[in-house]
Amino acid sequence: YSKVDRFDVFTIVVNILLSTLGGILVNRLIPMLSKSFIKANLFGYDLNKRNKEEKKIPEAQGVLSGGVFLIAMFLMIAIVFSEHLHPGSDFPHNKFLEYLAALLSICCMILLGFADDVLDLRWSVKVCLPMIASLPLLLVYFVNYGSTTIILPKPVRPIIGAQWNLGILYYIYMGMVAVFCTNAINIFAGVNGIEIGQSIIIAASILVFNFIELQGSCSEEHLFSLYFMITFIGVSIPILIKNWYPSQIFVGDTLCYFAGMTFAVVGIIGHFSKTMMLFFLPQIFNFILSIPQLFKFIPCPRHRLPRLDPSANVLRPSRVDFRKNELKPLGLFMLKFFSIIKMIQYEETINQDTKEIMISSTNFTIINTALCWCGPLHEEKLTKLLMGVQVCSCFVF
Ligand code: UD1
Ligand code: MG
Repeated sequence: YSKVDRFDVFTIVVNILLSTLGGILVNRLIPMLSKSFIKANLFGYDLNKRNKEEKKIPEAQGVLSGGVFLIAMFLMIAIVFSEHLHPGSDFPHNKFLEYLAALLSICCMILLGFADDVLDLRWSVKVCLPMIASLPLLLVYFVNYGSTTIILPKPVRPIIGAQWNLGILYYIYMGMVAVFCTNAINIFAGVNGIEIGQSIIIAASILVFNFIELQGSCSEEHLFSLYFMITFIGVSIPILIKNWYPSQIFVGDTLCYFAGMTFAVVGIIGHFSKTMMLFFLPQIFNFILSIPQLFKFIPCPRHRLPRLDPSANVLRPSRVDFRKNELKPLGLFMLKFFSIIKMIQYEETINQDTKEIMISSTNFTIINTALCWCGPLHEEKLTKLLMGVQVCSCFVF
């Protein structure tokens, strides 16, 4: 690695050590604090277990990994910038600002996620706040780079030009990346281990990508991203182990927002937010499939996670029931469209008392789609299948 000097190798090694220590700390904190979480009413019931009411499972454990992540990253600041701390050295204020703005955005999202776990915020709030949390970062981006020009792919260049200056639209796009990354992880959820599993796979893919790009022209940005990803993976592994089937903890929205924002900031600062979207393919599919329910074209129950069939201990797709005349034409179109492309299954029946046409449809998530395609599956098998899909889609690129 020609562009990476010995000091950078040193910081990476320290980073790996710190992340390992962080992971060990999170691993100790989880059992120590689980009673306090339950006492503070931060618990949930595992909806897909046979005697679910019997066991209270501590929720929002992502706040532990988030907190330790921040501690480790603050320590890393001292190490990364120690090179420039002697008098007369040219301190890279713009880099420093970038680092701090990134941590500020992540810190805000950990707070928002925790607030969501405690207060169950409304959807409008969940959508707006990531955009606002990314503002400091966008300002730093504006000051440091300022370029809002995108290079277009070769085939379209003769028709619409080689590059476009998107101006303000570029900032709106980056704000949307933050909203997408955070919420897309949160709605691809509902079986043990899936929220944290997908986050670690995405982080590992970004890590590999950064390592490859270290030789390229933006090595400094990729090194920056590397610190975030190594630390993220370090503090997340204990969460994965404890959240794996059968879950002893729930990650909560805290972890989903923390992970999503961490990916968004490294994508923005490292100028690879478009490439990063390739690592989010299952999330993109799940998001598109969820649009009818998220935007209320089709009724959306509080939980869309698959439903347990207790006799066989397997999961089946969960369903939503409604009257056909509740649907607007667009809703009916979406129902038919997703059913034709086999993403959902629905049946029509006639209510004998009211003579109304009733519809029973599977919920619009790819977790339910997987169950429609593969038939009923055991919860752990389903998680492994979905994680396999995530790994394949990430490593194709
Ligand atoms: C999102 C999904 C919702 C899904 C839920 C499950 C949308 C719009 N929202 O809501 O459909 O049901 O995540 O995480 O798609 N739980 C389990 N097993 C698990 C994980 C969670 O039973 O493996 C249950 C627990 O009761 C836990 C609760 O889900 O307490 C957490 O749900 P929460 O993260 O608050 O739901 P949302 O993110 O709002
Ligand atoms: Mg959630």
